[in-house]
Amino acid sequence: MRSGILIAAFGSSNPAARESLKRFEDKVRRAFPETPVRWAFTSGFVRRRLADEGAKTDSVKKALEKMRFEGYGRVALLSLLVAPGREYELLREEAAAVSGPDFKVAVSEPLLARVEDAPVVARAVVASLPRGRSGAEPVLLMGHGTWRPGDSRYALLAEALADLDPLLFLATMEGAVTIHDVLPGLRRWRDGMAGGAARVWLAPLLAVAGAHVVRDMAGDEPESWAGVLRSEGFAPQPVMRGAAEREALADVWLDRLRQAAG
Ligand code: CO
Repeated sequence: MRSGILIAAFGSSNPAARESLKRFEDKVRRAFPETPVRWAFTSGFVRRRLADEGAKTDSVKKALEKMRFEGYGRVALLSLLVAPGREYELLREEAAAVSGPDFKVAVSEPLLARVEDAPVVARAVVASLPRGRSGAEPVLLMGHGTWRPGDSRYALLAEALADLDPLLFLATMEGAVTIHDVLPGLRRWRDGMAGGAARVWLAPLLAVAGAHVVRDMAGDEPESWAGVLRSEGFAPQPVMRGAAEREALADVWLDRLRQAAG
């Protein structure tokens, strides 16, 4: 039976983000040298923008239908997701809709699919902290966040991170824990400093440094996370590399893929 891998990413029309997806794909190919690897983008908006630029990309549904038509019997669908939210539900629904007796699609779990994943992911975060960060400086990770129950996983990860390093902070854009919830901890750190610039590293806990990272995390506007930190007197130091480009975190996604590939 032919088997294949389909990597599902939100998608980005930003060239640096596309480069980083390409590097991640190379890693997947090295881990599965015998298996064809394809891409699908979940964002219709991104697909339309890319189509305007002459780059045709597939939705998950379209990519899976093509693979079934081409005689694949089994597809491991790699979700580049951090927490189980709406995106994960949609991928599972799409996989279930095309699966049948001779076409099986297994969706890989997000990094924080299970409660017990938090310490594993925390160790991977610690192993891939920004180069140049001194242990005396805080790192604030930006997660996406979701209104689904899976949002509670971010709080578990925040605890696991703090156990390893009390200067690791985690907040989300759309979930329960926001940047305003971590400001008191950052102020306490600054109050204990001997002086100097209160540098705070900002790093995405998102697979790819796309629009959320460029605009919502590092943007010049006062409402971006960098803007909020500046207005509080901190010196933000944004890291423009997505989590899929950080070796130890990419390895966790590869483990999830191995489980799905069976
Ligand atoms: Co979003």
